[in-house]
Amino acid sequence: MSLIMHTLHVELGERSYPVYIGRELLGDGKLLGQHIAGSQVVVISNETVAPLYGERVRSALGSRQLVTEIVLPDGEQYKSLQTLSTIFDRVMADKHSRNTTFIALGGGVVGDIAGFAAACYQRGVNFIQLPTTLLAQVDSSVGGKTAVNHPLGKNMIGAFFQPQAVLIDIDTLHTLPKREFSAGLAEVVKYGLISDEPFYRWLQEHMPRLLAREEAALAEAIERSCANKAQVVAADEREGGLRAILNLGHTFGHAVETGQGYGTWLHGEAVAAGMLLALELSARRGRIDRAEVDDFRELLLGMHLPVRPPEDMDAAAFLDLMAHDKKVIDGRLRLVLLQAIGAACIVDDVTDAELRGLLADR
Ligand code: NAD
Ligand code: GLY
Repeated sequence: MSLIMHTLHVELGERSYPVYIGRELLGDGKLLGQHIAGSQVVVISNETVAPLYGERVRSALGSRQLVTEIVLPDGEQYKSLQTLSTIFDRVMADKHSRNTTFIALGGGVVGDIAGFAAACYQRGVNFIQLPTTLLAQVDSSVGGKTAVNHPLGKNMIGAFFQPQAVLIDIDTLHTLPKREFSAGLAEVVKYGLISDEPFYRWLQEHMPRLLAREEAALAEAIERSCANKAQVVAADEREGGLRAILNLGHTFGHAVETGQGYGTWLHGEAVAAGMLLALELSARRGRIDRAEVDDFRELLLGMHLPVRPPEDMDAAAFLDLMAHDKKVIDGRLRLVLLQAIGAACIVDDVTDAELRGLLADR
């Protein structure tokens, strides 16, 4: 029996949608069916997730007229235009109409690529997110950012395209490898840092319960993360300003991911090391206490996350890669820093010298 533990809404006028958090949601045909418009469905998953959860979704779909299952190779390196093309080849060959529904079953890689495919196919079709990693459940499945990577930069080719619904089944977290789980926790902690100090303090206290994957703690952390994200997305869907705060640590992190080769460092790992750099810079600028930086480093260590960028990336490599970041506007790099725990700010006056000093001292 499925159990919805929390329901929240991303409020975007006619593009508003629900986010359900609970247990055994993948097999809930009634819930899924409420968000499927016609009788055609494309389920996009990967070779790791499909054998684990494909059957539950298949049975929830029942006997629809046309169900195409697409199983992608697993890995960030396949979040590419080439993979996107293989999706369109299958969907075209099976003659899906504009009335079809694309369903993403997997982590952020599957969600981002399936979402972008849904945004492009016949200029946009119905789309549902079934996220199965912690990172996808608290971040990538909510908010409508979809993309593939380009060899010169992450997520450089994509679209804002909101899903019709997000079904978060926390049972899927039991099969998630420890390293992936920790990477997802980095994005959970991000919400506390940028906009919710009480949540950050809660996370400091309850981290052992989360690491033990206690269901009540997980549901609570996912709900508070999604609520924070939904609020930011509702205020600034297309990242005209505020939404950029969701990228705390990401400018450094994306440089690590691109510099090391996609898939070497996990996204959440790169973001964790990047967030620590952002907090360190915030402390150097007198915005937060040094003790907060030290506490955050301890928290990351307890979460088994990296606290230092890769040894082989020097300041020059970072600066070069960061120049390609989407947050560079008119040649000025914009960075997310903290003015307090729970209060992010965006600055565009960080000098190369400051960055060189920061990256040299790690
Ligand atoms: P991922 O999709 O690569 O999944 C991580 C690994 O876990 C993969 O090997 C996957 O097959 C496996 N997996 C997934 N669910 C599983 C389960 N329940 N049990 C066992 N194994 C499982 O990585 P991710 O961390 O979920 O997502 C990272 C991607 O998300 C990056 O491409 C990043 O750019 C993107 N992202 C997008 C947004 C957005 O707003 N769209 C936000 C954050 C990150
Ligand atoms: N993960 C950043 C965003 O959704 O804007």
